[in-house]
Amino acid sequence: MAAARPKHRYSESPLRALLNIISTSVDAIDAAYASANLPHPSLDAPYDPHAPGEALRSDPGVAAAAKNIIGAAAQMIAELEHPFQGVTSTAYAFHQAAAISIASHLDLSEILHDAGPGGVALDEIASKSGASEVLLAKVLRLLATQHIFREVKPGVFTNNRLSSTLNKGKPYSVLARSREERLVGTSGRAALIEFTGDECFKASAALVDVALDRDPKDEQIALKRAFALGPSESLFQWHTRPENKARKERFACAMQGTAESDNSEGLFQGFEWGSLPYGALLVDVGSGTGGTLMRVVKRFPGHEFRIVNQDLEGVIETTKRYWKTNMPAYDRVSFQTHDFLTPQPYACAASNYYCKPHVFVLRHILHNWPTAQARVILRHLRAAAGPETQLVVLESALPVVCRESDGTGHDDVVPGAARPPAPRPLLANGGRASASVYRMDTSVYRMDMTMYTLLGGSERTIGEYAALFAEAGWRLERVCRLPGTEQCHIVARPGAKSID
Ligand SMILES: C[S@@+](CC[C@H](N)C(=O)[O-])C[C@H]1O[C@@H](n2cnc3c(N)ncnc32)[C@H](O)[C@@H]1O
Repeated sequence: MAAARPKHRYSESPLRALLNIISTSVDAIDAAYASANLPHPSLDAPYDPHAPGEALRSDPGVAAAAKNIIGAAAQMIAELEHPFQGVTSTAYAFHQAAAISIASHLDLSEILHDAGPGGVALDEIASKSGASEVLLAKVLRLLATQHIFREVKPGVFTNNRLSSTLNKGKPYSVLARSREERLVGTSGRAALIEFTGDECFKASAALVDVALDRDPKDEQIALKRAFALGPSESLFQWHTRPENKARKERFACAMQGTAESDNSEGLFQGFEWGSLPYGALLVDVGSGTGGTLMRVVKRFPGHEFRIVNQDLEGVIETTKRYWKTNMPAYDRVSFQTHDFLTPQPYACAASNYYCKPHVFVLRHILHNWPTAQARVILRHLRAAAGPETQLVVLESALPVVCRESDGTGHDDVVPGAARPPAPRPLLANGGRASASVYRMDTSVYRMDMTMYTLLGGSERTIGEYAALFAEAGWRLERVCRLPGTEQCHIVARPGAKSID
């Protein structure tokens, strides 16, 4: 008698498991739109942040389902593509970076916007923008294949949902009048793309040399290899050179824009600004325009907070202008040129009550610096802190990619630190959908690379924050995670003084 053939037990294929995630998540999104009686925003139509269908995308259930679909779809592609295709599409991604930067610099979104849904032919885009028709065809087709712009007829392009986000909200005729003014008063998205396509993109190309340098006499910060920065000159100091005025203003516009386009409620879903006492002194260290605390002041007018904005000479002028334009009547704000690598002037040891800080705010500061300098910044603040002073760090927390914790155990013991993993078989961090730094910004891992490339800085895990704080005399008290992003408000209190 022939031996019975062994029965193979097929476990569910990864494709089926991913499909199930997609399928249940699509059901959840469809049900939310059906019950609100709203259409899904169309990929072919321009982005309208005020459309009700757009607001529903931020609903926590819809956002979570969308995240699962994005992670699962990308993982499905990785399962199915020839493996080397996945590798080459990553290697060639630099062309996409160049193309999107060109599209923004040439104001292509506005040129197409002004013409309406019928689109604009390549020769007309070329004549308006002054760029080569041949190059434009390549740029627009590469981007359209990524669903950014649409080719509606051969050689005729129009905006879609993605490309329209580049629109600066000014007619092309106005933009064309002055290169200097084109980003002023815009949402900051185009400024971010153009900063990315300039400082970040060019520095990134030098990162390979940094990685391969076995005799690092040369500068280890890739930006310094790409541009002629002085030996101890940081990106921010370089921006204050007169010849970099436009770069400095573009950067400020990008930062402000991302802060505003950030989940506008996010700022108020973490640290409890409203629980601070009347007249509390909030010091924004490395404030940039100071837009963060301006929003806090506007939200809690009865608290009459006293605000100190501190930044480098050259930046603080922009800060003053920003407050003068947007909150001219507020008289409880001051501006101070201060290098945060030097002792903090507002200190609890001050005899004058009015100089005793309640909160030091660091928004998107620590990630700009390697650990040694981040420690110095925090130690100066610790030296100025009193027992009641709180340190509020507004920054992302980097999740590890696997299911294990980062090994430091902080996720379990620090209130608010835990981050639930994505459902299996997705990567624990959500994979392609791993949340962004801002609501509408790049992933925390890309930001981690960017910080390193430009400044030698890093995004940090919760465990790394805890260690850094402890080294500087602060105690990590709790983490407030902002929904839908990796942004956190990380709150620390004075701990045992650091040993220098
Ligand atoms: C990424 S921006 C963040 C700005 C602002 N906190 C925000 O969230 O929009 C970093 C800021 O740090 C400032 N900065 C850099 N080095 C500094 C230093 N040594 N002392 C004070 N400010 C500095 C820069 O000028 C810039 O405004």
